[in-house]
Amino acid sequence: MQPPPNSIANQRISTISAHLNPPHLQVHPPHLQMEEGLGSGFGRANCRAKGGSPGFKVAILGASGGIGQPLAMLMKMNPLVSVLHLYDVVNTPGVTADISHMDTAAVVRGFVGQQQLEDALTGMDLLIIPAGVPRKPGMTRDDLFNINAGIVRTLCEGIAKCCPKAIVNLISNPVNSTVPIAAEVFKKAGTYDPNRLLGVTMLDVVRANTFVAEVLGLDPRYVDVPVVGGHAGITILPLLSQQVKPSCSFTPKEVDYLTDRIQNGGTEVVEAKAGSGSATLSMAYAAVKFADACLRGLRGDAGIVECAYVASQVTELPFFASKVRLGRNGIEEIYPLGPLNEYERAGLEKAKKELAASIQKGISFIKN
Ligand SMILES: NC(=O)c1ccc[n+]([C@@H]2O[C@H](COP(=O)([O-])OP(=O)(O)OC[C@H]3O[C@@H](n4cnc5c(N)ncnc54)[C@H](O)[C@@H]3O)[C@@H](O)[C@H]2O)c1
Repeated sequence: MQPPPNSIANQRISTISAHLNPPHLQVHPPHLQMEEGLGSGFGRANCRAKGGSPGFKVAILGASGGIGQPLAMLMKMNPLVSVLHLYDVVNTPGVTADISHMDTAAVVRGFVGQQQLEDALTGMDLLIIPAGVPRKPGMTRDDLFNINAGIVRTLCEGIAKCCPKAIVNLISNPVNSTVPIAAEVFKKAGTYDPNRLLGVTMLDVVRANTFVAEVLGLDPRYVDVPVVGGHAGITILPLLSQQVKPSCSFTPKEVDYLTDRIQNGGTEVVEAKAGSGSATLSMAYAAVKFADACLRGLRGDAGIVECAYVASQVTELPFFASKVRLGRNGIEEIYPLGPLNEYERAGLEKAKKELAASIQKGISFIKN
């Protein structure tokens, strides 16, 4: 028997509506709040909603930016997300109003400016952080350090205070230094859990899969290249010899071409965008792929393995990107590098040198 139409309508309203804008979290300007009622005397506060659908609470910090906006849209489409908080220092009311009209289950709330940071963070299970300035042609990721280090520090101080158990996916560059910065902030606050702090290097894996598929004439969905080390130039180390799905081999020329293109994929986009920013759309795609893996891990799914830049004992460096298994507590296992060929061993030595300096720079930023 069909339920009566009214009950279906009430159920739908209860899933998506009333807690959209609880009074203490309102960010809409007064004229918009008045418009809502449109003279009918009925506004959102009058909706019959009881609460959100089951799922995880996710916040995006830097949600109005080039990465933040498509990332917010894609996370709104993720059925594992029940509540989506969008935080930035500008423009979140507009982005939130826009995205909140998508007819997917996640409830979206916007927060703008430092004074709303704590409300944005409280109760979150997963934080995705693309806040900070991107590169322009001629810049390295390290050139962003001076601005982005301070932004990451402020946001992590808020996280330590409001949601110390949340999983953190850090995208802001230079990732090789911002992850050590975040770790130091959390240590200072006494909340550091290395299993919950992950630098997002997924775009390097996404690029590696795409470029390898192109060279081999394969569907990229069936290619799986581990990319280890870090997230900048020569620290990005694709392990082409371990490209196992399907197993294949490359000529030395192909290895040179692929390694160079994967390491400089970010610069390829920065130059093509000619001053208007760095990768945003492919980054949002990669960030969502990674966040979804973290959420499936939190849900308790088995066998979730992705590459990420994390606190590590795989090498002598305190942070290193390699394959990790994700679970209910964040990182549950970090895998060793596996067999490397001579080309990869040489690349690893070069990567480690640069990586060590970037890690030290991040740690010193907080300690000194
Ligand atoms: N990890 C990766 O693979 C990868 C790939 C591409 C870009 N990135 C990095 O991601 C970052 C963002 O890139 P983008 O293209 O979206 O830049 P963008 O300038 O378009 O957006 C950044 C956003 O951060 C916001 N912001 C600045 N200070 C903030 C603060 N204190 N709190 C909250 N938000 C703040 C800005 O208002 C802006 O909306 C850059 O650092 C970029 O280098 C990383």
